[in-house]
Amino acid sequence: MKYNRFLLFGLLLLFGYGGCQSDSRIKVIKMGHAQVTAHPVHNAMVFLAKKLEEKSKGRIRVKVYPNQQLGTERELLELLQIGSLGMTKVSAASLEAFSPEISVLGLPFLFRDDDHISKVLNGEIGTELLLSSEKFWLRGLCFYDAGKRSFYSKAKPIETPADLTGLKVRVQESKMAINMIRSMGGSPTPVAYGELYTALQQGIVDAAENNLPSFYNSRHYEVCKYLSIDEHTAIPDVVLVSTVVWDQLSPEEQQWMQEAADESAIYQSELWKASVEESMREVQKAGVQISYPSKEPFQTQVQSVYELVTKENPQLGQLIQRIQNTK
Ligand code: GCU
Repeated sequence: MKYNRFLLFGLLLLFGYGGCQSDSRIKVIKMGHAQVTAHPVHNAMVFLAKKLEEKSKGRIRVKVYPNQQLGTERELLELLQIGSLGMTKVSAASLEAFSPEISVLGLPFLFRDDDHISKVLNGEIGTELLLSSEKFWLRGLCFYDAGKRSFYSKAKPIETPADLTGLKVRVQESKMAINMIRSMGGSPTPVAYGELYTALQQGIVDAAENNLPSFYNSRHYEVCKYLSIDEHTAIPDVVLVSTVVWDQLSPEEQQWMQEAADESAIYQSELWKASVEESMREVQKAGVQISYPSKEPFQTQVQSVYELVTKENPQLGQLIQRIQNTK
């Protein structure tokens, strides 16, 4: 799998498909991501590509490469940094290593409700966070809704933190996620999203956590028959452009790209709601047992994660407070 990806990437480079290939009239921008094509975020990216092509009258084309074809989320971000890839969509958790500020979005039970999430992400703080990784050559264009993340497991439902004891729980490549699972008593095991189905199947991990559309569309429900909706995090996705590509665009082209991204975010939020309902229906039909554990014991356990974050980086404490004070 990895070998194929590097082969493909090598061929792309060899034939001149960098982050932004242009002849005198047409710019072709490659956009890679890790999700499957049935997922609403993929369709939103295809929509973004269509909008940008329309606005630029065919002068800017975005080619979308799904399924981790060009690399894991971390690898995609690294390709963006050197301008070998133009655009991507990753979970904010994957941006943690590139922007300490954005890592706070991975804190468990950070938001009160959906209205709070939307006020933070669509307000001043959201804009600051999108631009916080620009100094690392990664410019955020917009957020996509990635719902709330909950546990799913192979052998038994996770009703309380005690049920995580001794369980190997797959986490994203994120220190915040590792600390969260540890604080709850489980054994965190980072695995790339594209390798998770096999990791669950082969017992490399016993459980994982994600939003409903990912649980369903990536078919993890075929292996994990217990879904415990504790909604411990609400980590959004982020659409990004390499600053190497962004800086090559004229101000007018930059505006088209930003507008196309914003319009795709509105479209994605509509797709998202429908996808959550469909996923719930389908996993139930497939025999997944769904429970709604009390959130309180989980919330109590994760207080140490907040303490750790603010101890390591006191400035993040102020940002967390600003988020919590957003009404
Ligand atoms: C979400 C997110 C993906 C990410 C995945 C994961 O589904 O949208 O971008 O890859 O979580 O758990 O890795």
